Amino acid sequence: MSSPWLHVPLEDYEGHMLSPEVAQLDVLAVLFREVLDYCHPPSVVILGIAGGNGIEQIDPNVTRRIAGIDVNPEYLAAVRRRYSALNDIELYCADLAQQMVIMPPVALVHAALIFEHAGVGRCLDNAVQLVAPNGWLSVVLQLPSPASAGVAASPYASVQTLKPAFALVDPGWLKETLEARGFRLAQQTLRPVAAGKTFWMGLFHRGESLAR
Ligand SMILES: C[S@@+](CC[C@H](N)C(=O)[O-])C[C@H]1O[C@@H](n2cnc3c(N)ncnc32)[C@H](O)[C@@H]1O
Repeated sequence: MSSPWLHVPLEDYEGHMLSPEVAQLDVLAVLFREVLDYCHPPSVVILGIAGGNGIEQIDPNVTRRIAGIDVNPEYLAAVRRRYSALNDIELYCADLAQQMVIMPPVALVHAALIFEHAGVGRCLDNAVQLVAPNGWLSVVLQLPSPASAGVAASPYASVQTLKPAFALVDPGWLKETLEARGFRLAQQTLRPVAAGKTFWMGLFHRGESLAR
């Protein structure tokens, strides 16, 4: 089945995320910045990179290898245009729910609001296999909210087509699942966003010992 994201123009997605009733892009960029500041990763891959939100937070002197994966080739083309100064950025067009991505592993895999859309089957397998030994996996999840729907209402009709494939992921389940796969929760944080929603971010470390 083809991804509903292929039918959402980037202008619609970003317009939705920036609209006052949603207002999530800045919060996501700040969370990414916090992870970068904590991990100082020499390499990073962003799963579901969309239009590149947060890339400007990366210090290319610290993080020399930057990669992004998305199912929508037009989003990746926009990232390439917007961040043309980052000559070496690696962009992969792949459906993370359907195929395993073959690329060298990285020090940090950042997965923000992707599992709700791509599920926790193959997409989680991809996330796990892309983390290098002693590396990090940061995950941002949307928590259930009595005040607001999973995909909030906004003037962008195309974004509403994402609703049927959207499913919340329980942070407790994720923690147990990742622990069973050799990860340890190093940090977690809650961040309120518009319309009564809250994001949870967990930073997981691969391996027993924290080398810092
Ligand atoms: C909510 S946005 C992610 C937000 C972004 N990570 C940020 O921090 O601003 C979800 C992104 O995941 C992508 N996506 C959704 N399902 C996917 C899949 N199965 N495989 C790859 N990318 C997918 C979408 O195209 C979209 O760019």
